[in-house]
Amino acid sequence: MDVRRRITSFDEYKEEYQKSVDNPEGFWEGHAESFVWKKKWDKVLDWNFSGPEVKWFEGGELNITENCLDRHLEERGDKVAILWEPNEPGEAAIKLTYKQLHAKVCEFANVLKAQGIKKGDRVCMYMPMIPELAIACLAAARIGAVHSVVFAGFSSNALSDRVNDAEARVILTSDGNYRGKKNIPVKSVVDQACETSPCVESVIVVQRTNAEVTWVDGRDKWWHDEVAKVDVNCPATAVASEDMLFILYTSGSTGQPKGVVHTTGGYMVYTDYTFRNAFQYNEDDVYWCTADIGWITGHSYIIYGPLLAGATTMMFEGVPTYPDAGRFWEVCEKHKVNQFYTAPTAIRALQAYGTEFVEKYDLSSIKALGSVGEPINEEAWQWYHKNIGKGNCPIVDTYWQTETAGFLISPLAGITPEKPTYATLPMPGIQLAIMDADGNEIEGNGVEGNLCIKYPWPSIIRTTYGNHDRCKEVYFGTYKDMYFTGDGCRRDEDGYYRITGRVDDVINVSGHRMGTAEVENAINEHSNVVESAVVGFPHEIKGQGIYAYVICDEIPADEDTFRTEVLKIITKEIGPIAKPDKIQVVPGLPKTRSGKIMRRILRKVAEGDVSSLGDTSTLLDPSVVDSIVSGALVPIKD
Ligand code: WT7
Repeated sequence: MDVRRRITSFDEYKEEYQKSVDNPEGFWEGHAESFVWKKKWDKVLDWNFSGPEVKWFEGGELNITENCLDRHLEERGDKVAILWEPNEPGEAAIKLTYKQLHAKVCEFANVLKAQGIKKGDRVCMYMPMIPELAIACLAAARIGAVHSVVFAGFSSNALSDRVNDAEARVILTSDGNYRGKKNIPVKSVVDQACETSPCVESVIVVQRTNAEVTWVDGRDKWWHDEVAKVDVNCPATAVASEDMLFILYTSGSTGQPKGVVHTTGGYMVYTDYTFRNAFQYNEDDVYWCTADIGWITGHSYIIYGPLLAGATTMMFEGVPTYPDAGRFWEVCEKHKVNQFYTAPTAIRALQAYGTEFVEKYDLSSIKALGSVGEPINEEAWQWYHKNIGKGNCPIVDTYWQTETAGFLISPLAGITPEKPTYATLPMPGIQLAIMDADGNEIEGNGVEGNLCIKYPWPSIIRTTYGNHDRCKEVYFGTYKDMYFTGDGCRRDEDGYYRITGRVDDVINVSGHRMGTAEVENAINEHSNVVESAVVGFPHEIKGQGIYAYVICDEIPADEDTFRTEVLKIITKEIGPIAKPDKIQVVPGLPKTRSGKIMRRILRKVAEGDVSSLGDTSTLLDPSVVDSIVSGALVPIKD
């Protein structure tokens, strides 16, 4: 069987799913065989979830970039690999063929080598959405180094924390970052981060905006200068299947963000398989995922999945509303995009501008529409389906996580019968379990509970960098021998899955994941703050907004000034994406006698639903609830 052939019918999906459950090892081995390995594996899978310890294709050696690039050179060397659309519509798009991308990756791999970067070393990218970012990730992988991309909207403190945790020796960045009308300094953020990150030996800077930058001699280097010094040939370093490919930091319900670790062989097999099948990519298609490479979606479904499949993958530097709310559709028309993949928050934001921005453009090239990042609401699903898909494009609602690296539940475009707002059915290889509060699996249909996975798939999280216990506790500690997603889920009468949202203290703001504890820690940095509690609340565009309850040492003389100060601190500690929509100064927090904050009450108040606060009799001081309710919902002037 040619395993690179896609699933083409719903019956075939069901058959393939069954095979993947009956014989997972045989199933994935078949797919692994379609890649170039430098040495074949000895064992397909070794695992236990109590460690946890999961090893796929142990003994195997490979380099993922040979599979993303070299493998395609003969057949599709002149095909466009990366199609880059800049922030300004007037600036020319860049098309890098597989041959050109291969050369640029090899060249930059030599630059990294010249900086002394060796196999296993960590390289941090803090860069805008320019081709150099993808080139940098692949260049690191080319020499067996580990990339750690930090979203360029994070603050210098957040960057420094991540750089230190990963002990990165190099940071790759740019002079500036164009985002819509804004021209954002990037290098200065890196400079600041370096003040508290002594592990950084060199900073390599791409010239993008020609912004003036300060320079640290010996440490700072221009990308173009370094590239001019090296050769374009760079043989791919053989790495073990379970060697780290990348670290990507993500927020959890407690403590600092953790470095999710993904390894090479399994990640490669799974991202390729899921990309080809979910999007039903055809050889001449142009595929566009609007995510930022700073998040997992960009890693798996802008860079690796599409390049492994030999696809043309688009990268977009700008924002959906610049120069106007028609930009996405203008770009779809311009590049004749066939698969378009974005987040519900973007759909809702554009929906608010009306359809005249859509109607101006010819969207007839689009064959499939994707959604990711949060549950898609019915209204957004219908709008997307009707106005962008013109009623005849499948919507691929892909449910997954940073930790899973690839789709867990998703329709296969045009194959899986859809149901609005449902992520539908598991991908082959994904054995789901819905669990009740007592730790029992809930069988049958028409049920709801916490979503777990019973069996390893090739791209499951391996560890959290530098702290394996944390990985064990967070993902494998709640239910015995299960990976716990942290999401609630409903399985309807047809066996279809609908994700109902996080069941832990993680909130999802515009598809960005945020730990409430992380935001609280930042707020608590304010000298007048005694304690704070942060919850999510339903937000029309963002999915969830952030609501902060704050106890002050002294009642602020001017609450607006106080709020502005808090927002400033959050921007400094985390970044603007973590700014609360509402900050309420409260005299106390609803705590139980054992000192636990009853977040349920705070969520209700934040939602504006104070009619059913439930039982408050276990509270230490039930009267705080009344004062919170009476002062609720004070909007912030942004
Ligand atoms: C959390 C993971 C997956 C890449 C982007 C976010 C939520 C993600 C969906 C979806 C319902 C979704 C979940 C998940 N989520 N996609 N299609 N339907 N919820 O990755 O930052 O790791 O966040 O995003 O709550 O646990 P992430």
